[in-house]
Amino acid sequence: MGKTKPDIKRRPKQGRRRKSEAQRKQPLPEMHAVGLQALIRCPRCKGNLQAHAAQGPAGLAGSSPPGYACRACGLEYPTVGGVVDFLPHGGGSRGLGQKLMESERMVEIYEGNWWRASKLFTPFLGISLHDEISLIQRITSPGPADTVLDLACGPGLYARSFAQGSPARNVVGLDLSWPMLRYASRKAGRLGIENIAFLHGDAHQLPLRDASVDVANCCGAMHIFGEIGRVLGELHRVIKPNGRFSTALAWRSSNPLNRLKAYLDEKFWGIHYFREGELKDRLDQAGFEPTVYHAKGVWMIAGATRRP
Ligand SMILES: C[S@@+](CC[C@H](N)C(=O)[O-])C[C@H]1O[C@@H](n2cnc3c(N)ncnc32)[C@H](O)[C@@H]1O
Ligand SMILES: [Zn+2]
Repeated sequence: MGKTKPDIKRRPKQGRRRKSEAQRKQPLPEMHAVGLQALIRCPRCKGNLQAHAAQGPAGLAGSSPPGYACRACGLEYPTVGGVVDFLPHGGGSRGLGQKLMESERMVEIYEGNWWRASKLFTPFLGISLHDEISLIQRITSPGPADTVLDLACGPGLYARSFAQGSPARNVVGLDLSWPMLRYASRKAGRLGIENIAFLHGDAHQLPLRDASVDVANCCGAMHIFGEIGRVLGELHRVIKPNGRFSTALAWRSSNPLNRLKAYLDEKFWGIHYFREGELKDRLDQAGFEPTVYHAKGVWMIAGATRRP
């Protein structure tokens, strides 16, 4: 990314919009047609997938990746609105917080100045969204042709910043929420970003092959996963030896006000606030070498290298 500002508050310019419309007529981008197939596998039986003709309306950067079928168990993974659906029969049960993430209205405001980018949150988080995105880039230092997974990508803020950093990078954003994915896919398309693919999937059972990504990032979601150990196990499986991982999550500091927020969020929203030292211990147990870069307010940002 260098010193380029993330696009969180910029509206796409007319020129850019016209460009992406023109790109709509171009053939399937490399990432979607070939690159993606080399990364994915059947989440149910781990079998290889076979691509078939594109389905549904145009999506990512104006073109749709094909749907896939498992060669081993035969399960079909269609592509809907440019998003490959690895949960064609739906996901598991949703808590209150996740239901909020699946509301179309919530998604519309999520990236805006009243939520994720709101300055009102900065005192609680001790860092602005802009600085967090820059820190994540520094922690992971992705190479120009690296493959990057943005886990629980939501509306795609981080996925876009990775993709825009280098056109030769392959970026995969995965999330459980259809409204988030639809928004992310549409926005990437509008901005003319071609080296990004969005997958509907579950962090607990990633549809990705072993050692398939160089870098993985997961912001704002580790504290809402049902089984954190299982997700870290999946991350360890898909990240290459010596690959990098970054995360930003809620933690419980000793400050009384923060403790109160943590108590209320845990009780009413089911958010898990990581205890002092818990993230490091969990990452270490999962086979990573962790470093904490930021621990202020209720927000912790950490990086980790996957041990060989
Ligand atoms: C607070 S949002 C964070 C989005 C984005 N990473 C960001 O920081 O802007 C949390 C995201 O986690 C996703 N999520 C929750 N549980 C998930 C799971 N088991 N697998 C994949 N995504 C999940 C939600 O759908 C939601 O989009
Ligand atoms: Zn299968």
